[in-house]
Amino acid sequence: MAVASVRDYREAARRRLPRQMFDYIDGGAYEEATLAANTADLEAISLRQRVMRDVSNRSMGTTVLGERLELPVILAPVGLAGMFAARAEVQAARAAERAGVSFVESTVSICSVEEVAQATERPPWFQLYVMRDRSYAEALMARAQAVGCRVLVLTADLAVVGARYRDTRNGLGGDISALGKAVRGIDRVRHLRWVRDVGLGGRPHTFGNLTDAVPGATSPDDFRTWVDAQFDPSVTWDDLAWVRAHWDGPIVLKGILDPEDARAAADAGVEAVVVSNHGGRQLDAVPSTAAALPAVAEAVGDRVEVLVDGGVRSGLDVLKMMSLGARACLVGRPWAWAVAVDGEAGVTHLLEILRDELAVAMGLTGTDDVAKLGADHLL
Ligand code: FNR
Repeated sequence: MAVASVRDYREAARRRLPRQMFDYIDGGAYEEATLAANTADLEAISLRQRVMRDVSNRSMGTTVLGERLELPVILAPVGLAGMFAARAEVQAARAAERAGVSFVESTVSICSVEEVAQATERPPWFQLYVMRDRSYAEALMARAQAVGCRVLVLTADLAVVGARYRDTRNGLGGDISALGKAVRGIDRVRHLRWVRDVGLGGRPHTFGNLTDAVPGATSPDDFRTWVDAQFDPSVTWDDLAWVRAHWDGPIVLKGILDPEDARAAADAGVEAVVVSNHGGRQLDAVPSTAAALPAVAEAVGDRVEVLVDGGVRSGLDVLKMMSLGARACLVGRPWAWAVAVDGEAGVTHLLEILRDELAVAMGLTGTDDVAKLGADHLL
């Protein structure tokens, strides 16, 4: 079946990936209420259809942190992507470059920042989790800058890790029983293409940015143990000065939901925030990002650039988020699904789908420039 929409990639990825892997991407924290709200709240927003305006030329390009984006979409940091497709971070970064958008390299990527940077002209943005061992975080920032990364995305909403029940049930990141191992083995046999292309063809499966910090991290099972031991829950606003001292370029704070935190981020001097609940993967029962975005945008005004992620599944969703006050959207699961299904070509097609849908949504809301999107485009 041909892939027509972003959600088609989800269904195709469900067939392609071992259950454990699909659920790792798809799942959220606890009862997954926030995960569901991210998409449901976007769907509930109605657009204002407008007619009889000249929409023969529609400009979708924008500038974020001084960087030109041909489409107001950025590929969000997604850990372990190299377990979904062979060298997936490289494939996705290439697709992003071709489409003229930015790719964010996660700290916990399989491909290192060097491997990604070498494969592309457009430098990736680098996402950092602050670790207890600050000298290690400093070394990571130095590595990213050495290969040309300009933008640092500091993820703030993983001070502690939210429980993801699907992962626990699937034996990801915990002790796994003999029965569990057998079930997993059978599941792998049912996904031989993945075993061949990724399990065998996509090696090495180490955390490319962390190989010297996580010795023996050869499977995703090591991830949670390492996170619990290494991520620093003591980080405060004061630590931004330390980050600034080690990063010579724009800093984006990711994981803002509250207007007061957004104001604190602006006071602390970051250049941008990402309104995010980590794709519903951290604290369940917090608001969806579509619900949180307007108050954050209002709180910071023009002081910082406001980006958003969570639940964006179409070009119409992009238009809605921009009308709610975002300058651009990040997408996480969509690119993870697309790369799992069809590698670089899949992510290229995904970005084409989003672009075409956004172009139509602009045309039928009577908009010729994404910069003009605002509350009056919504009912
Ligand atoms: C993530 N996210 C994430 N964020 C981050 O800052 N560093 C990371 O390593 C990861 N890893 C990660 C893995 C997977 C499988 C997912 C789905 C998400 C969160 C991500 O950047 C983004 O905030 C959400 O994915 C946005 O929601 P959607 O687009 O997935 O609905």
